[in-house]
Amino acid sequence: MGLIEFKNVSKRYKTDDGDFFALRDVSLNVDAGDFIVIRGRSGSGKSTLLNIAGTIDTFEGSYLFDGREVNGTNDAVRAGIRQKHIGFVFQEYYLINHQSVLYNVISPLLFERGMKLRDCKKAALAALERVGMKNYAKRKADTLSGGQKQRVAIARALVNKPKLLLCDEPTGALDSGTASEILGILENENRAGTTILFVTHDPSIVFENARVIEISDGRIV
Ligand SMILES: Nc1ncnc2c1ncn2[C@@H]1O[C@H](COP(=O)(O)OP(=O)(O)O)[C@@H](O)[C@H]1O
Ligand SMILES: [Mg+2]
Repeated sequence: MGLIEFKNVSKRYKTDDGDFFALRDVSLNVDAGDFIVIRGRSGSGKSTLLNIAGTIDTFEGSYLFDGREVNGTNDAVRAGIRQKHIGFVFQEYYLINHQSVLYNVISPLLFERGMKLRDCKKAALAALERVGMKNYAKRKADTLSGGQKQRVAIARALVNKPKLLLCDEPTGALDSGTASEILGILENENRAGTTILFVTHDPSIVFENARVIEISDGRIV
């Protein structure tokens, strides 16, 4: 079943020298359960593609998420899709540093209407357990190492059991040993059924079961 269907998706920026295409006529199908690696040099359009897939950015063309056209929908509809179905992991973690690990992971659930705090906590602790960070629930985020922060960020992305996990160079700031631990966590989550779109410029990153797509100058090559 198609979870993501891009058809001639383009992202155009107006510049003084005319139009610049950060993404040009990208067509891409991702099935539920797929692990997709999108590889390309810096500036090739990887983050642009991921932000469109994550319903953050506007674009030209057609994007069906789980069978539903995203183009032309309003901000509230797109925010709803994100909150329900999509998790994000970034190189920079984006944790709330002065808050506890538990608070960071609970925070996406606080938007869910009608969910009891006790159930939010339960879900957050379960997500932390999946990434091996349950024992750190009470720690302040800024006392963690980079690898630990990224584990917490992954738990936060997974806490509402998204269909799609988007990863924008999540190991870019980590040493290779810590990076491979993080990659192992992502592989496990994919095996458990989560669809993953992972972008990187790093050719040394390989996954056993991933389909690799190359992107260059905004085009899939
Ligand atoms: N707001 C913007 N205005 C103009 N150009 C942009 C904007 N955002 C990104 N770009 C350009 O789009 C291209 C792709 O960017 P990006 O998707 O961030 O690349 P990557 O993630 O592969 O490094 C780059 O050339 C970048 O400079
Ligand atoms: Mg990028």
